[in-house]
Amino acid sequence: MTRDPIDLDVWRRLPAAQQPDWPDRAALDEVVAELATLPPLVFAGECDQLKERLAAASRGEAFVLQGGDCAETFAGATADAVRNKLKTLLQMAVVLTYAGSVPVVKIGRLAGQFAKPRSKPFEVRDGVELPAYRGDMVNGFDFTPESRVPDPRRLLRAYHSAAVTLNLCRAFITKGGYADLRQVHAWNQDFVAESPAGQRYERLARDIDKAIQFMHACGADAPEFHTVELYSSHEALILDYDRALTRVDSRTGLPYDVSAHMVWIGERTRQLDGAHVEFFSRIRNPIGVKLGPTTAPEDALALIDRLNPDNEPGRLTFITRMGATKIRDALPTLVEKVSTSGAQVTWICDPMHGNTFEAPSGHKTRRLDDILDEVVGFFEVHHALGTHPGGIHIEFTGDDVTECVGGGHPIDESDLGLRYETACDPRLNRSQSLDLAFRVAELYRSN
Ligand code: PEP
Ligand code: CO
Repeated sequence: MTRDPIDLDVWRRLPAAQQPDWPDRAALDEVVAELATLPPLVFAGECDQLKERLAAASRGEAFVLQGGDCAETFAGATADAVRNKLKTLLQMAVVLTYAGSVPVVKIGRLAGQFAKPRSKPFEVRDGVELPAYRGDMVNGFDFTPESRVPDPRRLLRAYHSAAVTLNLCRAFITKGGYADLRQVHAWNQDFVAESPAGQRYERLARDIDKAIQFMHACGADAPEFHTVELYSSHEALILDYDRALTRVDSRTGLPYDVSAHMVWIGERTRQLDGAHVEFFSRIRNPIGVKLGPTTAPEDALALIDRLNPDNEPGRLTFITRMGATKIRDALPTLVEKVSTSGAQVTWICDPMHGNTFEAPSGHKTRRLDDILDEVVGFFEVHHALGTHPGGIHIEFTGDDVTECVGGGHPIDESDLGLRYETACDPRLNRSQSLDLAFRVAELYRSN
């Protein structure tokens, strides 16, 4: 049976996990109709370019750095917060490019990361039970009955908030000086003295300066010195949103989800016969699927059949999130079976979601040491099998928060309450993010 690639609504007849219980269907329909008239946030051609970059990462010729908030918030779309996030991502990329000697594919987990899958549909506090917070795209974070009612108008706010965020990012990396490697010191000015990671970065920035001066003296000037390619991504959880922002590309006649360059399916919504897999099989963006420690190799192979039947390089990324104690047992068979099948996938390590625990204070947290250990395990497994560790996927912020423990400027469990600001999972702060980047660069070089 041939499939009509343009039939983008087949998912509506399938079970869709983690969708909000919208109280007013007519209001949802109205919002979706409006979303469908709004301009694309990204172009299909940019999505294709990212696909090529991800294909390079699958061959070991590039390394993916994907990261941002666990859950973006509307209130968080400020100039300062977006700039700090971008700056941190670019600083990490510089560390990886220079210390790891590898081109870095930069993908923000931003401009659309507004919806969250939840393990429990309700939250209980002091005996009061309310619907769980599902991200700013769905309901409010405040623990009140009014705020927790899903409101479809939030889908529109999510679109506009994503547009503002992406606009700022695009401006910062074109005219805002963040694309120019000759400015690597300036990006660090607010950071140097305060933190060991900042000081280490400053030394690296001096080396980069020298290298650039040397290149100039030789008459060489690569465009990479003053242009940055930045891509956006989010978990496409709320299918009404991503479907409304899917458009047929005039060049190719093929559908793209133009709300982001890359979208992924989460660990909780990757059922083979479910709506998410069906919808993703129709769009032509590069896509990711999260794979947890219980993933059977047969499931991974079936996902490949459904999502990348033509074995197009760069189309499918598996984002593994096993946990530091499990990755060395769970990953090898998966990678082995997939590579024996001849399937081309890009492997990325999410060292965050398998390493979350609750501190005695009640805060959800993660240890930087566990995060590092999972990344080390990821490199070990791929090197043992002769496959390529294609990148990392992390949750971080550019602000000085205290959500994860450990790091060169250490935060311990008793510090968590000082600045715990996440709307969902705990994020690395800027210093911890740079620590991680230096460590990953060493791993990359030593293998
Ligand atoms: C996430 O990326 O925030 C998330 C919920 O991940 P996972 O689907 O891997 O649990
Ligand atoms: Co998360």
